Amino acid sequence: MKKSVLITGCSSGIGYYCAMELHHLGYQVFATARKQQDVETLLEKGLDAYQLDLNDEKSIDSALESILTKTNQSLDALFNNGAFGQPGAVEDLTLKAIREQFETNVFGTLHLTNKVIKVMRKQGYGRIIQNSSVLGFVAIPYRGAYTASKFALEALTDTLRLELSDTKIHFSLIEPGPIISKFRENAFVKFQNNIAIETSAHKNKYVRMIQHFSKKEGPAVPFTLGPEAVLNALVHALEAKSPKVRYYVTFPTYLFAYLKRLLPFKFMDKVLAKV
Ligand SMILES: NC(=O)c1ccc[n+]([C@@H]2O[C@H](COP(=O)([O-])OP(=O)(O)OC[C@H]3O[C@@H](n4cnc5c(N)ncnc54)[C@H](OP(=O)(O)O)[C@@H]3O)[C@@H](O)[C@H]2O)c1
Repeated sequence: MKKSVLITGCSSGIGYYCAMELHHLGYQVFATARKQQDVETLLEKGLDAYQLDLNDEKSIDSALESILTKTNQSLDALFNNGAFGQPGAVEDLTLKAIREQFETNVFGTLHLTNKVIKVMRKQGYGRIIQNSSVLGFVAIPYRGAYTASKFALEALTDTLRLELSDTKIHFSLIEPGPIISKFRENAFVKFQNNIAIETSAHKNKYVRMIQHFSKKEGPAVPFTLGPEAVLNALVHALEAKSPKVRYYVTFPTYLFAYLKRLLPFKFMDKVLAKV
């Protein structure tokens, strides 16, 4: 029997890559995307695709209902991948911008997760895999909204794991560092749309950030890997008899996890302030 996997955020990057590769590996993939035009593209690529906007409860409910109709109300795994980053200094974030960040990365994701847990409880097993981030356990400047959302996702996942420890539903967190995708491009749009650069006390830093992220040649961040690095962790989380609680992906994730355990807070701050 093919294992069924629902993936969010398949229009680009990690979600798209993992959906295609799992499909080729023989999984029954339910690829979802926020925009209908991306759903059409996924269908053209041979995937079973559905519209699912994490900011819209009705769209989440309706996509899940259609998928469960196809699987006779079962689902082996959920890969919560869809998310975005809202850059900008914390003091420059409007409540609207930070609410939007949480609506997608936390609330919509939790709504889908809780609905899927009900299905998995009935069938007696399942795997829920969260695409978190190295920024799910360390905070760096100008990424406060995103970091807060990923810390929240990690906390909810750690809690769920404890609360469902008497079931055969496994929870894993994948924590990638920099991965080639549209993430930075999409984050840059959010930055330009939602941060008042000209009037900010951080204007000079923003100008340098804009120059850095506008440069075309090479990856903007060292140690960037392709999305296959995440796929490897995902396949392990789907297949291993005892999946890991956390999967570190990329050198920066290993490094920061190590430094966080080793360094005193103030020393760690000095390192993170330079990132
Ligand atoms: N790339 C990295 O360096 C990196 C590092 C650590 C963690 N991650 C995590 O990896 C995951 C995938 O990101 P990526 O790197 O592949 O970036 P990406 O190419 O920007 O993909 C993000 C996906 O999330 C979707 N999404 C955004 N808002 C959504 C919503 N309201 N409802 C449903 N889907 C929504 C996007 O859809 P649209 O095209 O419609 O916006 C897109 O399909 C995210 O959870 C991200 O936090 C990425």
